[in-house]
Amino acid sequence: MPPQDDRNSPLTTTSGAPVADNQTSLTAGDRGPVLLQDWQLIEKLAHQNRERIPERVVHAKGWGAHGTLRITGDISHLTCAKVLQPGAETPMIARFSTVAGEMGAADHERDVRGFALKFYTEEGNWDLVGNNTPVFFVRDPLKFPDFIHTQKRHPRTNLRSATAMWDFWSLSPESLHQVTILFSDRGLPVSPMHMNGYGSHTYSLWNDKGERVWVKFHFKTCQGHRHYTNAQAEEVVGRTREGYQEALFGTIEEGNYPRWIVQVQVMTEAQAGELPFNPFDVTKVWPHADFPPIEIGVLELNRNPDNYFAEIEQLAFSPSNVVRGIGHSPDRMLQGRIFAYADAHRYRLGTHYEALPVNRPRCPVHHYHKDGAMRFFGDMTNPDAYYEPNSFGGPVEDESFTEPPLQIEGPTARFDHREGNDDFSQPRALFLLFDDAQKARLFANIAAAMHGVPDAIAERQIELFQQVHPDFGVGVCAALDALDPQF
Ligand code: NDP
Ligand code: HEM
Repeated sequence: MPPQDDRNSPLTTTSGAPVADNQTSLTAGDRGPVLLQDWQLIEKLAHQNRERIPERVVHAKGWGAHGTLRITGDISHLTCAKVLQPGAETPMIARFSTVAGEMGAADHERDVRGFALKFYTEEGNWDLVGNNTPVFFVRDPLKFPDFIHTQKRHPRTNLRSATAMWDFWSLSPESLHQVTILFSDRGLPVSPMHMNGYGSHTYSLWNDKGERVWVKFHFKTCQGHRHYTNAQAEEVVGRTREGYQEALFGTIEEGNYPRWIVQVQVMTEAQAGELPFNPFDVTKVWPHADFPPIEIGVLELNRNPDNYFAEIEQLAFSPSNVVRGIGHSPDRMLQGRIFAYADAHRYRLGTHYEALPVNRPRCPVHHYHKDGAMRFFGDMTNPDAYYEPNSFGGPVEDESFTEPPLQIEGPTARFDHREGNDDFSQPRALFLLFDDAQKARLFANIAAAMHGVPDAIAERQIELFQQVHPDFGVGVCAALDALDPQF
């Protein structure tokens, strides 16, 4: 959206009437009170009262830019999605974020980073709403609100609570993988440009023959991984709380466009059935040795938004936004998210949030949703076709967009996802990738965050680290001991 050129144009009210005086209110007499009939004053104050909308319940602090996805590889045998065909170039927008902090939070806090992408494809919007980590803290959507409560403020103290965080994590062994990443170097990237992005969940691709494969999406930074230590971040936050905004906006403004190599890992339906772990469990990665990443394209960010509120704050992503040739998977967290995001947007932005310019698809939209607050887009050209089916030539379904059927079997029940689930091998594989200095920083970062929590909670968590690797448990104990010799 290029800004309107309003240089030297007359100031108007919102109804378009030119304003004669924008300096003084209408008063009864030179020294008297203002009059209720000063609609110009009232309009101004009333608009100011409504300048804020609810912030996102999570991922409230964010930074974003427009860009392009260019497909350089060939996975046309796996998917009919036009956006993924060789040579395709698709306009997109990205929003990066921290998870826990409110809108005014400092950018350089240790946290997972959101890595959310909206692709304006010619077949509708495709949103990939991922993080800078390939896994997540919990694997059942029923636990997401509980987990988030531990990251937000305590109801009485209104402070963030280390006790709540470690209590929850130590009672949730499936969080170990993500916790290990969070307290490793990658838990505090220098800028949005210096981190990878991951779709995290398992998604699917399907082709015109009705064949489906499972996929994971990866976005590998071309700027290199760069991270701050806690001490460096403290120093940065002392200087600026907006370091990510400055870095992202600045680099694009200078014409240095950040890029990411786009990769997919592919798994056949048959392979999924033979794996020793659940490939739809978002606390697990697919080992590269078994499922090698295939390079398919390049993502580039190359245009700053002209209006942060309109283009980034009102940006609404949803994992429910998939297009022909790209589908979901049985990942239960993903199913929770397919519901949660559009629901959040209807509350935060309003019923017709998808008609806002930044969310509007760049292809024709024909639906039968009718009225509601802020219905600002025009009527369909055929006013008699406002229900379906109709005899007046209204929009109709197209069965060529049908996703291949997915076989589901087994009884309906609340299965214990912890039973027989190995929560330790993959964090161990990660731990063993770290060199001694990385391990030392991991231990120190964990100890700093855990220091002061009740002993029983700390001991339960250390027991879990011990099961990942004896050196992990011993290292954290030693780092805690260094902070507090009594421990
Ligand atoms: P590989 O050795 O093939 O992959 C290791 C991966 O670890 C690389 O992708 C590397 O990312 C990433 N990595 C390196 N340092 C860190 C860090 N401090 N924090 C997070 N990730 C890091 O082994 P596997 O595929 O068998 O995976 C081993 C472990 O690596 C996994 O258990 C998981 O924790 C982690 N990992 C795996 C990924 C996957 O999709 N298989 C993706 C990311 C992490 P890069 O290439 O960008 O340097
Ligand atoms: C934002 C819910 C898991 C990544 C949000 C928002 C909600 C939400 C309600 C705010 C949306 C808004 O107001 O715009 C959930 C639920 C989850 C879940 C219910 C689990 C059941 C995840 C996971 C990831 C993730 C696993 C990453 C893999 C994000 C990102 C944003 C976000 C990146 C910010 C999007 C933006 O920039 O606008 N989530 N989430 N979430 N979530 Fe989740």
